[in-house]
Amino acid sequence: MKKAIIVGGTSGIGRGLAEVLIADDWTVGITGRRTRLLKEIKAKASDQILILEHDVTEIDLSDQKLESLFLQLKTVDLVIVSSGFADLNQKLDWDIEHKIIQTNVNGIAKVYEFVFSKFRSQGYGHLVGISSIASLRGSRHSPAYSAAKAFQANYLESLRCIAKNEKLDIKVTDVQPGFVDTPMAKGKGMFWVAPVEKACAQIYSGILKGKRKIYITKRWRLIAWIMKITPSWLLEKT
Ligand SMILES: NC(=O)c1ccc[n+]([C@@H]2O[C@H](COP(=O)([O-])OP(=O)(O)OC[C@H]3O[C@@H](n4cnc5c(N)ncnc54)[C@H](OP(=O)(O)O)[C@@H]3O)[C@@H](O)[C@H]2O)c1
Repeated sequence: MKKAIIVGGTSGIGRGLAEVLIADDWTVGITGRRTRLLKEIKAKASDQILILEHDVTEIDLSDQKLESLFLQLKTVDLVIVSSGFADLNQKLDWDIEHKIIQTNVNGIAKVYEFVFSKFRSQGYGHLVGISSIASLRGSRHSPAYSAAKAFQANYLESLRCIAKNEKLDIKVTDVQPGFVDTPMAKGKGMFWVAPVEKACAQIYSGILKGKRKIYITKRWRLIAWIMKITPSWLLEKT
């Protein structure tokens, strides 16, 4: 039986992926801050699920807590890092900017680093991060979020370069969703909003294929291409 950890599995995409993995006979360690939700998930398939209360922003405790899940599982084939925080913040409220940076940069980098190191000593593993289409360009809607997602995307690509350079049997996948129908998806003008089930089915399929990058849904590849070639003067008008 394959074993996975989902960091940020209490709701949205992380929770949806946990359900997909459980249905496909994986044993899954699920983390998050909301213990009530963790217990609720565990109750559904207790023999296949381990739970861990874990806050990615508690940097000093993060490794130690995740280590406890690795020890219980003994070997881990796959780690999906779905934790994240987003908010619209054109006014640049520093509390919001700071929380986004603490969660999506500091917290997530610590998790990526820890998991990659564990896979290095284990000799294999597959790390999946969930950045965003928002990683591709800056945006007035949430400056820290776009920047933090660019950080994640580049960090994941860098880890892939290390794995290749050191000939490690470690895969690294960057999932870049457009809009997925979760509590996080906010704001006017959202389009092509994917149901969680559809998003998770496509993410799982891409994981099994060992893809480097997965656009969610698939047609967001087109938006990604348009975003990359959009001139700055036009972007500034949006
Ligand atoms: N939905 C979209 O349209 C969309 C688009 C692009 C990218 N994404 C990315 O997809 C990922 C999943 O988001 P979602 O849409 O599924 O949103 P969600 O339903 O709000 O899920 C966010 C998850 O992150 C966890 N989390 C938040 N802060 C945390 C912290 N400090 N420590 C540990 N876990 C924390 C939450 O668990 P607890 O609250 O229990 O800790 C929850 O499980 C995020 O990285 C997001 O940026 C989403």
